[in-house]
Amino acid sequence: MMIETINQLNALRLRVDEWKRAGLRIGLVPTMGNLHAGHHSLVRLAREHADRVVASVFVNPTQFGPNEDFARYPRTPEADAAGLEAAGCDAMWLPDVETMYPYGAGNAVQMRVPGVTDTLEGAHRPGHFDGVATVVARLFNQVQADVAVFGRKDYQQLAVIRYLVRDLAFPLEIIAAETRREADGLAMSSRNQYLSAQERPVAALVHRTLLAVREALRSGRSRGQVEQDAASQLQDAGFAVDYAAVRKPDLTEPDAAWRGPFVALIAARLGRTRLIDNLEFDGA
Ligand code: PAJ
Repeated sequence: MMIETINQLNALRLRVDEWKRAGLRIGLVPTMGNLHAGHHSLVRLAREHADRVVASVFVNPTQFGPNEDFARYPRTPEADAAGLEAAGCDAMWLPDVETMYPYGAGNAVQMRVPGVTDTLEGAHRPGHFDGVATVVARLFNQVQADVAVFGRKDYQQLAVIRYLVRDLAFPLEIIAAETRREADGLAMSSRNQYLSAQERPVAALVHRTLLAVREALRSGRSRGQVEQDAASQLQDAGFAVDYAAVRKPDLTEPDAAWRGPFVALIAARLGRTRLIDNLEFDGA
């Protein structure tokens, strides 16, 4: 099957209506493009839960802060289409900014998700998750999918999406996909290509630090000490650390009696590249 690239909303609606009239189940994989094997694995997972899969490719201006990498974010639609086709995707939804935001990105009806967005990524990237929720709500309305797949790599984003879906009663199921990694443990990310040849091996320390956090907590060290050690280890290697945190799966702070499950989360900058990763684990 050849993948179809769609960039007009009416064309998308016609295609999806046709599939729905045939009784087919539709899967959606939202992305910002520059796709790698992690994204492709989301498409394959969507395929297991749906008869037709739409991947959206849209670098969403409303989720980038004023000093972030919106302008230099890599845009590679031809390569993305080829990779999506190989992964078994039926259609690439490739809207331009005017199609996504008919009144302009600055005049968009906005989503604001409370609570889960106050901490970690939300605290370091003000407005980021509101932008994510704003565009994902649009994608849900545009594609009318039965299931949507998101990666655990963006752990807090997944929590925001689940909150959005429940609170606004979007009639679709959310499926979480495992994080795909390079051989040295570095989580795949479109932003990895910002890393210089010198930085690239150092970047794997983020994942190694998460594994060390898991071992330290299991061996009975205190959470505060473990978090501090993780941050120092990264700083010593040249990272600027936004956070190195151990939380409950719902991202609230565990008290001293909490024995797991845990999620450890790191956001750190290496040169001009900001890396995030996380690790979920049981206490023992
Ligand atoms: P993007 O960073 O392109 O990621 C698209 C999807 O791929 C997300 O669900 C993300 O968690 C998942 N993903 C990224 N790296 C992964 C990896 N190494 N293994 C598995 N899955 C991975 O996340 C966004 O785009 C945007 O915020 C979006 C949801 C599209 C809204 O604009």
